[in-house]
Amino acid sequence: MTGIFYFRTGMNIPDIIIAIDGYSSTGKSSFAKLLAKKIGFVYLDSGALYRGVTLFAQEERLISPIGVVNPGLEQALSGLDLEFGTDGRLFMGPRCIEQQIRSMEVSSQVSPIAAVPYVRAWVDEKLHAFGRKGRVVMDGRDIGTAVFPDAQLKIFMTASEDVRAKRRYDELVAKGETPLLEEVVQNLRERDYIDSHRETNPLRRAEDAFELDNSEMSFGEELAWVLGLIQGKFGIL
Ligand code: CDP
Repeated sequence: MTGIFYFRTGMNIPDIIIAIDGYSSTGKSSFAKLLAKKIGFVYLDSGALYRGVTLFAQEERLISPIGVVNPGLEQALSGLDLEFGTDGRLFMGPRCIEQQIRSMEVSSQVSPIAAVPYVRAWVDEKLHAFGRKGRVVMDGRDIGTAVFPDAQLKIFMTASEDVRAKRRYDELVAKGETPLLEEVVQNLRERDYIDSHRETNPLRRAEDAFELDNSEMSFGEELAWVLGLIQGKFGIL
């Protein structure tokens, strides 16, 4: 896989990993992208990989309409090629799947797929390869707790349910979908529940994570907050 959103600003930050975890639609990926751009790190969206596996399972008919995963998925994964393009979009082989993986159809089945231990192992292997050299901002559900428990900076993001639902709704509408707000709320609740209650690496705040509730914050305020943290922790910027 190639890196994505790689920008150099010349700022003298050590080769650390920044782990950003949190609930659905808390704005993790926008925040992570912005931060990566600002400090010249690579941004990696772990959720995109779970979404890519979900689309694959749907297309191969390895997940039923009610979310029962066919054990054949384990073997099929060895033939799955997911890569990020240089612009950050996800590809399945030669096909760009960025738009499809953000659809409600994929969102509605991603959490059961992400609860499957061999799926998590498959994704983790890719994430570890990416994070080996550091200088990465990675967002997800278990980055600071399980994938990179030694990450030097961990952030746990939250926001009110209303704000999160509105953000996701607007995002879908902007992409030309016609979701019902109630359906979006339901999906967020279901995913939060499954993500926090699954057996393998459930979503939880790492003890050493800094919590960011961005319900009423602008991107500028979020950025100032995290740059302050980095300055405090590493004495730079
Ligand atoms: O965009 P949003 O925050 O709603 O979700 P995402 O980051 O695209 O992740 C989609 C789904 O993948 C989550 O609801 C989780 O079920 C799963 N996921 C996970 O289990 N572990 C991760 N590190 C990242 C995502």
